[in-house]
Amino acid sequence: MRRPFIAGNWKMNLRRQSAVDLAAAVAAASGEFGEVDVAVCPPSTYLASVADAVSGSPVAVGAQNMYHETDGAFTGELSAAMLLDVGCRCVVLGHSERRHVLGESNQEVNAKVLAALTAGLTPIVCVGETLAQREAEQTTDVVAEQFYGSLAGVNADQAVATVIAYEPVWAIGTGKVASPDQAEAVHSDLRKILQNQYNAEVADQIRIQYGGSVKPANARDLLSQPNIDGALVGGASLEPDSFLGIIQAA
Ligand code: 13P
Repeated sequence: MRRPFIAGNWKMNLRRQSAVDLAAAVAAASGEFGEVDVAVCPPSTYLASVADAVSGSPVAVGAQNMYHETDGAFTGELSAAMLLDVGCRCVVLGHSERRHVLGESNQEVNAKVLAALTAGLTPIVCVGETLAQREAEQTTDVVAEQFYGSLAGVNADQAVATVIAYEPVWAIGTGKVASPDQAEAVHSDLRKILQNQYNAEVADQIRIQYGGSVKPANARDLLSQPNIDGALVGGASLEPDSFLGIIQAA
């Protein structure tokens, strides 16, 4: 049985004090998480403060990006070891905003995924189609290409330590959530891809989150689908009540 995993991607929002207050409010409610894993992913500058705010609680801290090299002359970048050093346990990689706004390729995402796994950080690897791709019935191909490209060279042991997030680009920040059936269809395709790439036992263990306009009101229907194992939450993770409502639904 896969443990549900709800992660809040705060993107480029909040300031140090509001980030700490939000993290503390999530940690304070952790007695009610039950069998749900929870993470918050603040902007990099606030990782250490947020890690302090949740320390001693089961809330994990994640980064929103990293670089694949370990050290050196890479101005502006952060390595996996640096993220671990400030208390991170996971890292969002290949988010659609990084792929589409910042031009990140599958190859770059793949290098980061391998570096994160080598260092012992859990990668949350995002895949998802644009509206034009969905309308052209390319969803399955796009998601498969992103999956194979981003996870190239990841072995079975590493795969079980990896989280996949299906985030249809058209549902991110738009209020247009994928229907439970639409999301489940892609999650089930991803599970089949995982079976082909690894085996049924490995595929059964890997958690696949859904992301894109998840709110307390739609979370239960999405999370009750057999292959939806959690959520990667943007806007609704910026308020304790809505984020905790989604955790409650899980
Ligand atoms: P929203 O929940 O704001 O649509 O964002 C989803 C997302 O991109 C999480 O990574």
